[in-house]
Amino acid sequence: MIDLRSDTVTQPSPEMRRAMYEAELGDDVYGEDPTVNRLEAMAAERTGKEAAMLVVSGTMGNLVCGLAHCQRGDEMIVGADAHIFVNEAGSVASLGGVQVRTIPNDERGMLDPDRVQAAIRPVGLQFPRTALVCLENTHNRCSGAVLTPDYTDTIARIAHQWDAAVHLDGARLFNAAVYLDVPPRELVRSVDSVMFCFSKGLCCPVGSIICGTKEFIQRAQRTRNTLGGGMRQVGVLATAALVALEEMVYRLADDHHNARRLAEGLSRIPGIILDPAQIQTNIVIFQVADGDAPSFLRQIGERGLLGHHPYDSKVRMVTHYGIDEADVDEALEIVELVMKERLGAPRS
Ligand SMILES: Cc1ncc(COP(=O)(O)O)c(C=O)c1O
Repeated sequence: MIDLRSDTVTQPSPEMRRAMYEAELGDDVYGEDPTVNRLEAMAAERTGKEAAMLVVSGTMGNLVCGLAHCQRGDEMIVGADAHIFVNEAGSVASLGGVQVRTIPNDERGMLDPDRVQAAIRPVGLQFPRTALVCLENTHNRCSGAVLTPDYTDTIARIAHQWDAAVHLDGARLFNAAVYLDVPPRELVRSVDSVMFCFSKGLCCPVGSIICGTKEFIQRAQRTRNTLGGGMRQVGVLATAALVALEEMVYRLADDHHNARRLAEGLSRIPGIILDPAQIQTNIVIFQVADGDAPSFLRQIGERGLLGHHPYDSKVRMVTHYGIDEADVDEALEIVELVMKERLGAPRS
């Protein structure tokens, strides 16, 4: 089976499994797990922030940051296609009483700065306080599109002018850094908090981390505990994340190369709608001309290829650790065969 549903299906590397067996552990709720402490220090250093805190998942990281930045009745501005808005079960609203205000993403995952500016509430008794603006880099539903440091700075300048904080959902921050060939800290230099995931292209079994000021992380520790997210000998997971930061970042370039190969191949298959020039990182989103993504996925699945149906008539395929050029070529053969059947052309 060639599984291109997501980079979350990755398995830990042999080095990670070895490190997990050997990890030095302590009780992290007492702040005594040396491996977690090393990981948090390294994550803070890589993002240029004062402190960091390990969390169970990207969803928990975004939620903790949302709750730590916002009070009940505050408003958060977020893109209409953002993972935070679409895929996180409305958690900041249900658990934090935070009102979420969406503005459209463009197809590169960007929010129009003028619309952000216009969406920020004036100060007044009748208005919610705009406490937070969220960005996503890379952008999952926008084919893994990358935000540049300058763009992020522009949005942060607007938000900060009105005393709103900026949170970056950087689930795939390192994909953006590798694509732009800049250190991750450049991508987050103007944001107040960032979450990134170890459990996606970096191949860890579990774990994400949030980074910000010391004061913010102290508040976030309390919030994590209220969500039941305090973990004990979690160095057993943190050690895999240390391996990821040391050894798995550089190879994301292979995933990007394979995604481009996949996108270019797909764009040559009749009935597949995709502009390969849009693919920057490891996420390839395309349309099947007849619009019936579920039956297309069923047909390729029967031939050993898995993709994902994220929304509308779209199909998503994601390259990752464990997928090589030969897998991509085989995936293309399967799609070509299925499309010939769907278009009613005779098999070659
Ligand atoms: C952009 C983005 N943010 C957050 C998450 C949530 O991460 P997790 O699945 O670890 O909760 C995901 C998961 O795919 C994601 O793509």
